[in-house]
Amino acid sequence: MPEPDDFVVTPYEVRGHIDYARLRELFGTQELSAELLAKFHHLTGGDLHPLLTRGVYYSHRDLAPVLDGFANGKPFFLYSGRGPSGPLHTSHLVPFDLCQWLQRRLGVPMYIQITDDEKFWARSGLTREETVFWGLENLYDILALGFDPKRTHVFFDSRSIAALYPLAVRVARKVPYSTVKAVFGFEPSTNIGLVFYTALQSVPCFWPSWAEGRSIPCLIPCGIDQDPHFRVTRDIAEGLGYPKPSLLHSQMIPGLLGEAAMSTSGDRPDNALFLNDPPEAVDRKVRNAFTGGRSTVEEQRRLGATPEVCSVWGLWRTRFAESEEKFREVTAGCRSGALLCGECKSQVLERVHEFYRRHAEAREKVKSWAESTIVTAAPKAL
Ligand code: TRP
Repeated sequence: MPEPDDFVVTPYEVRGHIDYARLRELFGTQELSAELLAKFHHLTGGDLHPLLTRGVYYSHRDLAPVLDGFANGKPFFLYSGRGPSGPLHTSHLVPFDLCQWLQRRLGVPMYIQITDDEKFWARSGLTREETVFWGLENLYDILALGFDPKRTHVFFDSRSIAALYPLAVRVARKVPYSTVKAVFGFEPSTNIGLVFYTALQSVPCFWPSWAEGRSIPCLIPCGIDQDPHFRVTRDIAEGLGYPKPSLLHSQMIPGLLGEAAMSTSGDRPDNALFLNDPPEAVDRKVRNAFTGGRSTVEEQRRLGATPEVCSVWGLWRTRFAESEEKFREVTAGCRSGALLCGECKSQVLERVHEFYRRHAEAREKVKSWAESTIVTAAPKAL
């Protein structure tokens, strides 16, 4: 008997020690190969986003046709989203960082879905006021990464339902209950909102093709936990006359308390750096963060530490190492024992505080136009 896997990854639950190669196998996705990265490199004008070079994005579905198509003059669009259950933390930016960079490099449209309905259905502790409030707050944070107001469109589910519904009814008719039950592990007690919800997450994949009356490929950068939704989407796409969406999957970013993902559900606020944390809280969380260090300085100098299990290394890797040289220096210093955890934390904290200052300014600026990106009307009656 093979060993059972000691981790769980679904859109509604991430836990355990995730074996990412195994997860790719279980989900049946492809490896983001050096050859594909080279295609990206070529297309985006000779450099690669750090999230690509550092292996945070590591898996995909049908990426090559999108890249090859674009190289031959066939445009695509980007799509990603956020379920607003509270303030964003730094790992939530991973899909949007890559999208923003791709939008800037390639000039492609971006569709962002804010699922205030999904989180109301999925988390019994949240009120409608809360999911709507966080939806807007989260949107400001996302847009502040530098999205182009002219090429960025937002589906804020409860406010965009008139725009989404004509496609949602078609999608929903194609998805049998047995599929969602198997894919998401729903129980008899699961509310019927969540049963329908996956239809709404599919709609943006087809929306631009529907609106423009021609086939436009969709590329979705997202955490690999979202893949199950899009397996459903891909199964029904051709039956509806639309191209299957392509995906680019990132790993989950380890939490500061050393857990599989930087999730704060279950009331663990110190597991993540929230974008609205005051500087003192940021300091405290990083100072207390789980590391890959040894129990004594002497041992660490002699044997070195383990970056791969370290939550602080996760911060450097996903955002805060400003160059590949810095990232290599931190990684090598950690492994050799030359860089101790206290010093490493001080260095990363400087960068975190600097990012928070710049982000707060950018966030104020997007407020004047953020709501104008929300799509409220359907382009057609049918
Ligand atoms: N379900 C996602 C969440 O819980 C939100 C979401 C909607 C999304 N559409 C998406 C995520 C597209 C990635 C890609 O956060």
